[in-house]
Amino acid sequence: MSKLFEATTLNGMIVKNRFVRSATAEGMATEDGEATPRLINLMAELAEGGVGLIITGHAYVTTRGQATPAQLGIYDDKLIPGLRAMVAAVHEKDGKIVAQLAHSGMLAIPKLINMPPLAPSATEGFAEAPLQEMILADVQATVEAFGKAAGRACEAGFDGIQIHAAHSYLLSQFLSPAFNHRRDDYGGPIENRARIILEVVETIRRRVRKDYPLLIKMNSRDFLEDGLELEDSIQAGAMLKEAGVDAIEVSGGTFASGNLMPVRTGIVTEGDEAYFQAEARAFKQRIGIPIILVGGIRSFPVVERLVSDHVADYISMCRPFIREPGLINRWRSGDLSKATCLSDSKCLRPALAGKGVYCVVEKRLQDKERSKE
Ligand SMILES: Cc1cc2nc3c(=O)[nH]c(=O)nc-3n(C[C@H](O)[C@H](O)[C@H](O)COP(=O)(O)O)c2cc1C
Repeated sequence: MSKLFEATTLNGMIVKNRFVRSATAEGMATEDGEATPRLINLMAELAEGGVGLIITGHAYVTTRGQATPAQLGIYDDKLIPGLRAMVAAVHEKDGKIVAQLAHSGMLAIPKLINMPPLAPSATEGFAEAPLQEMILADVQATVEAFGKAAGRACEAGFDGIQIHAAHSYLLSQFLSPAFNHRRDDYGGPIENRARIILEVVETIRRRVRKDYPLLIKMNSRDFLEDGLELEDSIQAGAMLKEAGVDAIEVSGGTFASGNLMPVRTGIVTEGDEAYFQAEARAFKQRIGIPIILVGGIRSFPVVERLVSDHVADYISMCRPFIREPGLINRWRSGDLSKATCLSDSKCLRPALAGKGVYCVVEKRLQDKERSKE
């Protein structure tokens, strides 16, 4: 049996294989962010399909941090029962599930939050609406909101937490010199730009037990002029490890990075795959922390090489599981052909519109088949 299907332990959490479902905003919650039966069924399907560790779509820790309609929320205790049902459905299918905690900052939709989006700096030229630069009280309230959300995740029974500090959402905006022009303790050198995330980690660590798995997803590089560069992200990663983070999911890119955004298209050959592998290798060598690699991974031989060459400890995928929730069981059963995902990212549209994520290509094929009957 391949090493990929052996169980590993991540700060006490036993993960039955090396495969992770990367956070995917499903657009399947209620208007208030409550988990619905449709969303819970999707999580159960992924667990049943063999994914070792599921990461939820980013859940907003305050209403002002909401990014899309029908996004999952974790900003209030009233949401705990739905979250608990989600966890139970995954555990019933022998899976593990971690809650991704997020604030979208300048990417919040003004129409949804009825206020100007908060941001480290009121940078012009990126967001459509005017932004509100965060004062110290906003920073402190945000840190506290992450802490409280972590408490809720714990209460709902999640196996761990992942902080979303990637893809130009709020915490990633702080890390990035392109978005963060502050002159106080939260701007300037990387020690300052990482400060809010370190405070989030400290607050979470104070609220949850020491052996509660705490993961972070962060950008290795922004691929933006004046954006976050690898050397700084490695320094931030090292500080986060010191502060008590158990694993880093290595990603990159922002909404403004053109072809080099986090969700890239045109992944055809094995050479196109794992587009953050060089950065992940650097993280692993320099920080020495379990690495979860995401971004364009599609083929079993690529997965095997990434793990046997110590580029990554865990393999994370998003779009392949939208088309094939049972991909891991398929690979495990010996059918090792590559994921059928075409990486066209058409799945983003229904997800971000709050209509529920699905594979547009697969649906078209199924509709065609049905029309023949
Ligand atoms: C529909 C959709 C929703 C996504 N939602 C999230 C999210 O909530 N949080 C996050 O960190 N990344 C999110 N991503 C990015 C993915 O987790 C992943 O980093 C990216 O798609 C690259 O992996 P892939 O090539 O396996 O799809 C989303 C991507 C897609 C396509």
